[in-house]
Amino acid sequence: MIFNLIKRRRSVFPAQYNDRPIEDKEIETVLEAANWAPSHKRTEPWRFKVVTGNAKIRLGEFMAAVYEKHTAKPKNIKTKKIMDKARQSAVIIAICMQRDPEERLPEWEEIAATAMAVQNMWLGCVELGIGCYWSSPSIIKYMDGFFDLQAGEQCLGFLYMGYFDEPIEAGQRRPFRDKVSWIRD
Ligand SMILES: Cc1cc2nc3c(=O)[nH]c(=O)nc-3n(C[C@H](O)[C@H](O)[C@H](O)COP(=O)(O)O)c2cc1C
Repeated sequence: MIFNLIKRRRSVFPAQYNDRPIEDKEIETVLEAANWAPSHKRTEPWRFKVVTGNAKIRLGEFMAAVYEKHTAKPKNIKTKKIMDKARQSAVIIAICMQRDPEERLPEWEEIAATAMAVQNMWLGCVELGIGCYWSSPSIIKYMDGFFDLQAGEQCLGFLYMGYFDEPIEAGQRRPFRDKVSWIRD
């Protein structure tokens, strides 16, 4: 049931992942779900870079190096954590947004469409029993040093993915009624 699935979706972090690999077929299943997101003027601005195998380790090393270079007082523990996260994940998907070349829409609409694609992917992961979470570290602005980004393409973060064993606690939200007003007359 979609409403249960939505409520069951949680952020599951790399430290919670086990060693079970994720098959390419499963990754493609969630990418296909992502691709059904809506977009204004059907720009379909979501772009994904699926990083796996040794490239995952290279990505971790790249991010750790960028963190150290661009942080006033980098902490060893943080550098290690960045590399650990890459190692612990089965797959890392870079979440990118390709701006419409004619800029017919405001940027926010293309970011919003990309976020909707990520939600589809995230819910798809729940359905498949795969843990994931969207990470948006400040170093994403340097990702053109790792990925071959097109003109107008920007990285909005990473979806870290892996299977997990321990049950995940139920999420919590403040009541929806606190965030909603009805206007009837
Ligand atoms: C756009 C976006 C960026 C996020 N970036 C981070 C992040 O950098 N680090 C992190 O720990 N969680 C990040 N999250 C996950 C949120 O922390 C998480 O969704 C929130 O705490 C609610 O928990 P839940 O996903 O388990 O419901 C991000 C989520 C979104 C939607």
